[in-house]
Amino acid sequence: MIILGIETSCDETGIALVCDGKKILAEGLKSSVDLQREYGGVVPELASRVHVEYINLLIKKVLSDSGLKMKDIDAIAVANGPGLAGALLVGTMVAKTIGMVAKKKIVSVNHLEGHIYSSFIPIGKNDEKKKVNHKSQIQNLKSQTNKVIINNKNIKKIENIFPLMVLIVSGGHTELVLMENFGEYRNIGTTIDDAAGEAFDKAARILGLPYPGGPSIAHCAIQEVRNKKQETSIKLPRPMMNSGNYNFSFSGLKTALLYEVKKFQTQTERKIAKLDNKIVSMLAYEFQEAVADVLVYKTKKAMQEYGVGRLAVVGGVAANNRLREKLYEEIEGEIYIPEIRYCTDNGVKIAVAGYYKYMRREFVRWQDLEVKSNWELG
Ligand code: KG4
Ligand code: ZN
Repeated sequence: MIILGIETSCDETGIALVCDGKKILAEGLKSSVDLQREYGGVVPELASRVHVEYINLLIKKVLSDSGLKMKDIDAIAVANGPGLAGALLVGTMVAKTIGMVAKKKIVSVNHLEGHIYSSFIPIGKNDEKKKVNHKSQIQNLKSQTNKVIINNKNIKKIENIFPLMVLIVSGGHTELVLMENFGEYRNIGTTIDDAAGEAFDKAARILGLPYPGGPSIAHCAIQEVRNKKQETSIKLPRPMMNSGNYNFSFSGLKTALLYEVKKFQTQTERKIAKLDNKIVSMLAYEFQEAVADVLVYKTKKAMQEYGVGRLAVVGGVAANNRLREKLYEEIEGEIYIPEIRYCTDNGVKIAVAGYYKYMRREFVRWQDLEVKSNWELG
């Protein structure tokens, strides 16, 4: 069963060919992040243009890399929501066209569902170098924490994984979802303002660090992580930690960071860009700690309350190593986290999610496929 996955929800054009929901035959990714950096965030029009420019080239590339022809493909899985309408339209139109011309079955995949299935992507099978990196990362974390970290290679039957608690932390979403079976999602918590990734992006801007903010802040905080035995003098709040529900809020945290920056600016009478590197890294460190603390605390509590022993953490922010460390320290049970490169948007996760929908014969006719930019999971 060979599925062509198409992802164009935001600023990554992701195309992949995946066999039986686990064997990656070929993949291609083009990000417009370098162009977006100049503007400090995603410009939707720019994202759409890059999708239009690259999507057909990437499809050609995966066919040639895998040695397959269009006739060998069983179905197209496309992320047709949620996301930027103009960006989604590109992938959706390409899927419709292939469906119509090549008479392929189409599976419509919710972008967030795609993120969830990224935790089922086998680790490192197609890339020995990454495999070593990931392994050593896991070994490293294991020796620190003695926790069980599972990857898809060890999942004999994915059906046995449920119920699964899922923490989705991306640029547009922060959701705690209880997944009771394939396609059965119960949303138990969400953000009431900024998403976790969005908070990282905005905080980076405040600190004068480049877009996307997550990797910039993580990089900048490394120095402080190394010195973490020393107590930092900067303290930021842990919003909604004791709110009595599983919702999140990150907007106030960003404002608290801004006040801290202003304090240092008044003291030094300098502009943000001139903030001392040491202060920027202390602020970045404390911001990352605050976001990770809240995410881990609430996730742990939700798992306890719902009696769930397995957790998947997905979305761009799941690439954050400090968050991973804290999860491994705190969470009892099995944790499924994709390889770093599959945390952010890609075509593989859409093809994997598409496979499970295909198996349930959830097809959509090309005439009925449409963009659903506000599509909620469930
Ligand atoms: O899942 P994703 O690629 O796109 C959406 O679906 O939104 O996530 C992108 C988000 C960005 O906000 C980015 O800053 C964040 O993921 N991100 C990170 C890291 N890498 C990417 N946040 C924290 N730490 C990281 N290492
Ligand atoms: Zn995403």
